[in-house]
Amino acid sequence: MTAVSLTKTALSEVKADAILVGVTSSRGGPQLAPGATDVDKAFKKQLAATLKSMGVTGDKGEVTKLPGTGRISAPTVVAVGLGPEPARGERFDPEVLRRAIGSAMRALAGTPRVATALGSVNGNDDETLRAVVEGVQLGGYAFTRYRTAASAKKAKRPVGTALVVVPDPRDKQTKAVVDRATVVTDSVTLARDLVNTPPGDLRPADFAQAAVDACAPVGCEVEVLDDDALREGGYGGILGVGAGSSHPPRLVRIGYTSKKARTTVHLVGKGITFDSGGLSLKPAQAMEWMKSDMGGAASVIATLRAVARLGLDINVVGWVPTAENMPSGHAIRPSDVLTMRGGKTVEVLNTDAEGRLIMADVIVRAGEEKPDYIIDVATLTGAQLVALGSHVYAVMANDDDLRSELVDSAGAAGEQAWPMPLPEELRKSLDSEVADLANIGDRNGGMLTAGLFLKEFVPAGVRWAHLDIAGPAYNQGEPHGYTPKGGTGVPVRSLVEFLARAAR
Ligand code: BES
Ligand code: MN
Ligand code: ZN
Repeated sequence: MTAVSLTKTALSEVKADAILVGVTSSRGGPQLAPGATDVDKAFKKQLAATLKSMGVTGDKGEVTKLPGTGRISAPTVVAVGLGPEPARGERFDPEVLRRAIGSAMRALAGTPRVATALGSVNGNDDETLRAVVEGVQLGGYAFTRYRTAASAKKAKRPVGTALVVVPDPRDKQTKAVVDRATVVTDSVTLARDLVNTPPGDLRPADFAQAAVDACAPVGCEVEVLDDDALREGGYGGILGVGAGSSHPPRLVRIGYTSKKARTTVHLVGKGITFDSGGLSLKPAQAMEWMKSDMGGAASVIATLRAVARLGLDINVVGWVPTAENMPSGHAIRPSDVLTMRGGKTVEVLNTDAEGRLIMADVIVRAGEEKPDYIIDVATLTGAQLVALGSHVYAVMANDDDLRSELVDSAGAAGEQAWPMPLPEELRKSLDSEVADLANIGDRNGGMLTAGLFLKEFVPAGVRWAHLDIAGPAYNQGEPHGYTPKGGTGVPVRSLVEFLARAAR
C-alpha cells in the first residue's frame, strides 16, 4: 500500500516524480480545480488551455499525463478529472475525489513518488483530507504475494509514497485525520488480502490463525474453537457444512472492550474459505471466485482490528464461523437434518445454501450474550447480485432505525448500501416436511428468503441487521476508481463508520 507523507511545500516545487492536479468539466472543460494556482503560474497560466488542446475534458475518472518541461520541480503533471465543479455553496464530493485519486494511483503504478494538493480542494475540511488519503492508499493496492520474477513486470508496483500538501503538516488535527484514515485503509487492505489468498492456502484453521494474528496484537481477546469444541457446543450448522472437507471447521470469537462503552455490538461474518456447493455442486464457472466466500468474515476481522487501533468507546465482539464447503463421502446430503445451536432443526435441501447454516449457529451464540445489536455480514446469495448488482450491498433488519443507520454509515464512508425488506409472506416457503425449517425457500426474492431464514435464529429483543455483500465484496470486472480486481474490502469502511457513530 502506498505510504502517505505530509508536506507544506508548494506543488510546483515539491520533489516528486509526478504531481496530481484536479480538473473539472465545467464551462466546456477542462478548468483547473483549486489548489493548482502555483503550478498554473509556472505554466504561464496556460495549463488548462494546454490540456484542452490535448483533448482533456475534465470528466470523472479521466487521467492525463503531461510533461513538466522544467517549469516545475516534478517531471510530470497528471490531470485528474473531477467532473462538473460543485454548485455554489457546495463542495467537491469526497467520494468523487476518492475515486479520481484512486484512478490516478492505478495509472501511476510503478512511480516511486507522487504529490497532490487535492486535500485542500474544499478549503480546510477533514472529510476531504480523509478522502484524499483513502483514495491514495486504496488506489495504491496490489496483491503481489504470488508473483515471481517471471511475471513481476505484468503487475507494476503501486506508487511508493504520496506527498499530500497541507497548510501545516504538524497540526494535531491534520495528523489525526491522516492516522485515522490509515488505520481504516490498513484494515481494508487486510480484508482484500485475505479474500485474494488462494483457498488452498487459507483453510479454516489458517483463517482462524489469521484472525488471531490480526487482532490479538492490537489488544483484542481472541478465542478459537476447534471441531471438538464445536461438537461440545452443539454447533450443528458449522459442523454439517464442514463435514465434507478434510480440513475441519473453526469458530473464532474476537472481543474488544472499552471501559467507556455504553453499547455492545456483535458482528458475525460468513467465513466459507471455499464454496464448491458441496454435493449440490456448483458449475465450474460459478466456482471460479468462490475463494471470496469468506469476504464477510474478512471484513469482520478487519473491522475489529480497526476498532481496537482507534480505541473506540464501544464493546464489539466479532464472530467468525469458518468452514470449507466440499463434496466427499463425509459430506452432508440433500435431505439430511442438522440440529443447530439452541436446538432448532434444519432440513438441508441444497448443500450450496451453506452460508445461512454456519451463520445461524453463530447468531444464536451471539444472542446468548444479549448484545444491543447483532450485525451479520455475508456473501450469502447470488440473488443479491441479481437485485442490486456488484456495487451496492443489501441491508435487511428487524429494526428500521438500525437499517437506516447502516445505510447512512455506508454512504458517509464512500460505500453503497440499500435497504431491503423481509416480507413475512415468504417465510412459509422455508417450511420443511420433516424439520423445523428447510434451508431453501422461494427462489424469487432469494436474497430475502435467506434473510428470513437467519431471522428465525435472532433472539427476541435483539436488534439485528443482515448485510448481503455477495456482489460488492469481490470485483470480477475491471478495476475502477480505488477498487481493484478481486477482493474489495467492502464493507469494512461502512462498519467502522457505523461503530464510530454508535460509540459517540
Ligand atoms: N456463496 C454463495 C453465494 C454467492 C453467489 C456469493 C455468487 C457470491 C457470488 C452461496 O453460498 C450460495 O451458493 N447461494 C445459493 C443459494 C441457493 C442454493 C438457495 C445461490 O445464491 O445460488
Ligand atoms: Mn453456496
Ligand atoms: Zn457460499
